[in-house]
Amino acid sequence: MIIMTYSDSQIMKTYNPMPLDFDYLSHEEMLYRSQQFLERMIKRRTVRNYSTAAIPEMVIANAIETAGSAPSGANMQPWHFVVVKDDKIRTQIRQSAEKEECEFYSHRASQEWLDALAPLGTNTDKPFLESASFLIAIFSKKFSYTTDGIRLKNYYTSESVGIACGLLISALHYAGVATLTHTPSPMRFLNRILNRPKEERPYLLLVAGLPSPDATVPNISRYELSEIMTSL
Ligand SMILES: Cc1cc2nc3c(=O)[nH]c(=O)nc-3n(C[C@H](O)[C@H](O)[C@H](O)COP(=O)(O)O)c2cc1C
Repeated sequence: MIIMTYSDSQIMKTYNPMPLDFDYLSHEEMLYRSQQFLERMIKRRTVRNYSTAAIPEMVIANAIETAGSAPSGANMQPWHFVVVKDDKIRTQIRQSAEKEECEFYSHRASQEWLDALAPLGTNTDKPFLESASFLIAIFSKKFSYTTDGIRLKNYYTSESVGIACGLLISALHYAGVATLTHTPSPMRFLNRILNRPKEERPYLLLVAGLPSPDATVPNISRYELSEIMTSL
């Protein structure tokens, strides 16, 4: 494929406004909805023990479509989501992730990092990569291509993909699906196993499924609102 850059191209984008579709709510409704949402979202926890119970793939697809509605720098939508349910691929991912995690826990991580992780009870063993219903690998894209092969630079890639992942996790939680934000480091093995181009950077490996009935979570705290919010 011949790659043309933006400066070689004849792309001309123009402002094309349309009416906004927006739901104006009463203050009562705003307060009610914000409280309801808070009460739901505050129950989200990172789950590390999964059952093998199935969940509908459409739930995952809807959540990814929600993620794809995220704002992004210059609307470049610099993300790609790979949904993995195939057992053989999951085994390969687990083996590669555990290899990286062994390196991480034995050499790469500083003592300070290991100390920060201690309350979470994490270790090199990652059974959830095979037991949870789905893995969703999220890739961030530094460049996008038009159908004519013209390469376009993406802007604020990391911020945009982070926001999309926040929506994805929220949508799954809202639909009753537990998640684990997994970041084996480095994650380049995901390009090889999932056959993604090398210019896509693995951003997160999201584990999604139902918690096992005996699942436990670390007893950790969150900051109070007054500690994270300043009102001027
Ligand atoms: C960017 C990011 C990377 C994370 N990586 C891992 C990981 O590799 N393994 C893991 O068990 N948890 C991982 N977590 C989950 C955090 O440990 C967890 O969100 C945190 O302890 C707070 O717990 P909670 O999500 O239950 O509120 C990650 C979270 C984020 C946001």
